[in-house]
Amino acid sequence: MKVAVVGATGLVGSEILTVLAERNFPVTALIPVASERSKGKEIEFKGNKYKVVTPAEAIALHPDVALFSAGGETSTEYAPQFAEAGITVVDNSSAWRMDPTKKLVVPEVNGEVLSAADKIIANPNCSTIQMVVVLQPLHAKYKIKRVVVSTYQSVTGTGVKAVNQLMDERAGKDGEKAYPYQIDLNVIPHIDVFQDNGYTKEEMKMIKETNKIMGDDSIRVTATTVRIPVMGGHSEAVNIEFENDFDLAEVRQLLGEQEGVIVIDDPANLQYPMPKDAHGKDEVLVGRIRRDESQDKTLNLWVVADNLRKGAATNAVQIAELLLKKGLI
Ligand code: A2P
Repeated sequence: MKVAVVGATGLVGSEILTVLAERNFPVTALIPVASERSKGKEIEFKGNKYKVVTPAEAIALHPDVALFSAGGETSTEYAPQFAEAGITVVDNSSAWRMDPTKKLVVPEVNGEVLSAADKIIANPNCSTIQMVVVLQPLHAKYKIKRVVVSTYQSVTGTGVKAVNQLMDERAGKDGEKAYPYQIDLNVIPHIDVFQDNGYTKEEMKMIKETNKIMGDDSIRVTATTVRIPVMGGHSEAVNIEFENDFDLAEVRQLLGEQEGVIVIDDPANLQYPMPKDAHGKDEVLVGRIRRDESQDKTLNLWVVADNLRKGAATNAVQIAELLLKKGLI
């Protein structure tokens, strides 16, 4: 496979390179792509060096698949040009996710929707991915009525500039700001831009993308998304109300059997998932599994995953693996 990584110099792009190498994706030629600014820069992949090219140059090299993680504007402009040239695009931005003509895919949840007609495939929002992987087996068994989620999101989700802001603030240095306020020793209840309804775009993504991926608009979702001064992964407190009652032991068993999920739930021994444990892992970690005692048929969970891995790079590479397995690239 000739593989282009668009945004190869960015945080998610470099994680995609790591994941491609780790999972032994059959890369015969790598095409690292970034902006004009990075043209000619060398990127290392599996011991070889590759020169960064621009999106237009990458199209001319005709890769089999292009993994995009270079922001919405780059995707809006270039993904259709790649697709037009017959190159299958897996896009990590929010540009195409809610487009009814594009599939929004988490392989463990709805991988079966992929078909030969799909030339631009959207990778969901990081917070949505880690939640739906956990919701899926529970919905299949007990039918979800409503989900209330609060997130505790890592600065890595904002990109290099945000990591630098946190580190600068921690070192007492002045520097570029990715957030409107100090993030160190603070919590910012604002991710992405505010909408007319008072929710942020990140919150609305969690709501709409969950319905689309799970193929069920009857699931009601409400979200509060929050940035915290943490690296390594996003955490989520998830409250789920079901149509049917559940057995806690069976919930643990279903989650334990779910592909891509690891249950860490042993309060007696202080075992629960944390971002520092999720960091560098492809799996979604789930713990604090307990009944909501204030309401019938309702469950509380704590869900943690590395937002750059399963929330972005790993899911994109898994989509490419699935395309390959189905003979679609
Ligand atoms: P560059 O390094 O040349 O700016 P992050 O979100 O971590 O900041 O990464 C953003 C990624 O998207 C980088 O690899 C960046 O490349 C890339 N990028 C930004 N604008 C463009 C563009 N117009 N064309 C191609 N890649 C772009």
